[in-house]
Amino acid sequence: MHQYGFILGRKFKLSVAELLSVFGEENVEIVSDVFIKSFDKPLKDMRDIQDSLGGVVKICEIFNEAVSFSALEKKILDYFRELSSGKLTFAINVYNLPPKNDNFLKKLLINVKKGLKEHEGKVRFLNKPNRNLKSVVIYEEKLDEKGTDVSVICKNGRYLIAKTVAVQDFKSYSIRDYDRPARDAKSGMLPPKLAQILINLACGANKNCTIYDPFCGSGTILMEGVLMGHKVIGSDISEKAVLDTKTNLEWLKSQFKINENFIVDVFENNAVKTMKNDLKILPDCIVAETFLGPPVTKIPDEATIKNTFNDIEEIVVKAINNFKQFLKIGSKVVLAVPFYIAQRNIFIENLPTHIANSGYKIDNLYECTKRGSLLYDREDQTVGREIFVLKLY
Ligand SMILES: C[S@@+](CC[C@H](N)C(=O)[O-])C[C@H]1O[C@@H](n2cnc3c(N)ncnc32)[C@H](O)[C@@H]1O
Repeated sequence: MHQYGFILGRKFKLSVAELLSVFGEENVEIVSDVFIKSFDKPLKDMRDIQDSLGGVVKICEIFNEAVSFSALEKKILDYFRELSSGKLTFAINVYNLPPKNDNFLKKLLINVKKGLKEHEGKVRFLNKPNRNLKSVVIYEEKLDEKGTDVSVICKNGRYLIAKTVAVQDFKSYSIRDYDRPARDAKSGMLPPKLAQILINLACGANKNCTIYDPFCGSGTILMEGVLMGHKVIGSDISEKAVLDTKTNLEWLKSQFKINENFIVDVFENNAVKTMKNDLKILPDCIVAETFLGPPVTKIPDEATIKNTFNDIEEIVVKAINNFKQFLKIGSKVVLAVPFYIAQRNIFIENLPTHIANSGYKIDNLYECTKRGSLLYDREDQTVGREIFVLKLY
């Protein structure tokens, strides 16, 4: 068996749901913020795997284990000695450390450095004492390529020892998010990583889906879909949104290696009225972020919330009923709808009931809310996204 640890992103439950959807539930263990999975064969193309998982910060390959601190130290030393004889810049990270182990990491870093004093080249570690190294530094220093970022995953009194084989490409996400020519902060745009998670929740292990986003806005889901190797179709009720999406997809073609033929069509259309004939290819799934309501900086009054949520609920319910004319039974519809972030979050209350009455089952993926949803929110925002994974039956 070949064991890998996937270090989960900030929205832990969403990241787990994404991985369960892509890799399935077999041979999986979730240990604090690490998703551990055993595979029959070694994984290939780690860069591609990492680049298609929006919820994973880094991937490490577990290559050894130890039952005591001294054995752990020795095994890490042996690993570094074998790896290089020249200059060595390394990092060690610890996950799921039991409480009252305050100086564990500091001691490990210092002892490993001391143990390497006979090493030919200069040896240094990049961690701040007792802090895991930020993945952006691992990326910038290319420690994943050098194999010198080591992770220790504490599990049932044992230490699993792993080397980082891929880390999130911060630069590429930032370019896709901020450098694209058409942005629409007023309607709202999905962060590219969240778009990838939604796509993975819909497509699972299928690497060749046809994805339809009928609320495409400025096209984040289509951009990420095509980068992940899926075929994409988009539509939006707004002429400006359709133009924005087309502009962004043209820009994507000029900046990234993609298969242009995978951009099937982008057209103006009301999502509640899409006809089978409007679609050049029938989609395998739908992935969309619906209308989020007017932009706000604080939670609106009750009457405004009611009006906004009624509008959104009506569009969503009509749209998912309409999708049934062109979706196959078993197809997934992944929807992000708004909620207001508060001490007690404010949701579109009756949406789950309407979904159930429309012939869809809500997939309860991993530690979902009582409503069957997963939440994406940020402290500095008023509006979060509530994510539903629906299956047509
Ligand atoms: C929040 S934006 C989607 C943003 C998009 N996910 C992105 O990242 O660029 C919602 C979009 O839904 C569109 N919309 C609202 N009502 C619609 C309807 N009935 N049919 C189709 N699109 C609609 C709006 O024009 C807007 O572009």
